[in-house]
Amino acid sequence: MAGNQHSPASNSETSPSEAKHDGAGHHSAGNEPDSAAQLWDEMYRSRPRVWSGRPNPQLVAEVAGLAPGTALDLGCGEGADALWLAEHGWTVTAVDVSAVALERAAAHAAEAGYGHRLTWLQRDLESWAPEERFDLVSAQFLHSTEMPWQRSHRIAAGAVRPGGTLLVVGHHPDGLPPWSSQAAASHSRADHADGADGDASDGHAAAHAAGRFFTPEQLVAELGIAPPEWSVQVAESREREATGPDGQMAILADAVLRATRLKAADTP
Ligand SMILES: C[S@@+](CC[C@H](N)C(=O)[O-])C[C@H]1O[C@@H](n2cnc3c(N)ncnc32)[C@H](O)[C@@H]1O
Repeated sequence: MAGNQHSPASNSETSPSEAKHDGAGHHSAGNEPDSAAQLWDEMYRSRPRVWSGRPNPQLVAEVAGLAPGTALDLGCGEGADALWLAEHGWTVTAVDVSAVALERAAAHAAEAGYGHRLTWLQRDLESWAPEERFDLVSAQFLHSTEMPWQRSHRIAAGAVRPGGTLLVVGHHPDGLPPWSSQAAASHSRADHADGADGDASDGHAAAHAAGRFFTPEQLVAELGIAPPEWSVQVAESREREATGPDGQMAILADAVLRATRLKAADTP
């Protein structure tokens, strides 16, 4: 996660399923699923803070060269990316399903003196999509067992105005954090499990690992990111070093997509 205190990059190493549920995304104490808001609120409440204040490195690398305008951060979590964007001149709408995460995010932004450049919206992407269009739409590690990645990222692409930029970063399925149950489940399926994770033998978790994460190629194909509507600047897998919850180092892979929605010929 951008605000992850145990990773120099993303806080996406934890999901509600990992925090509170078995690998199939069901409650350990029962099979009635809660709403995404409840699930993610529980995850955030389970830690006094996830925040490190560091923005995601791929966001910084990809956005640094863009002229600031309006930005939408989908699944903003505790808001380190949104705050970094505001600090760099963007007017930001930051959306998350978790009110707990958003309260923390707003407090950090107010403390930093950038509250005026940020709007925080508690919305569930299962049932909501923005009407406005933005110069930049960023979705960083918007992984959720409760919501197919195809849906949330189609919403992201749909919110980019002509001439604007779509930036999606997620865990590449071949470079998941080894300390996450999803990665352990994948390894288990491939007979590489070291037994380090309690979920490693859970075939449901392996199925979720396959369904939650995407390659850059899958993103491009699923979202229809191609001419004449889009120009692709980056669609690649990038390795980066990260630190796990117990201080362990690992090389992770990020799936990175940056694309520009081309202006229609008759658009001024
Ligand atoms: C793995 S975290 C990533 C947070 C942040 N982008 C980062 O990189 O640190 C995924 C975020 O997506 C949010 N999320 C999950 N399902 C959602 C939904 N249905 N609607 C809106 N946000 C959702 C979660 O609350 C969580 O903050």
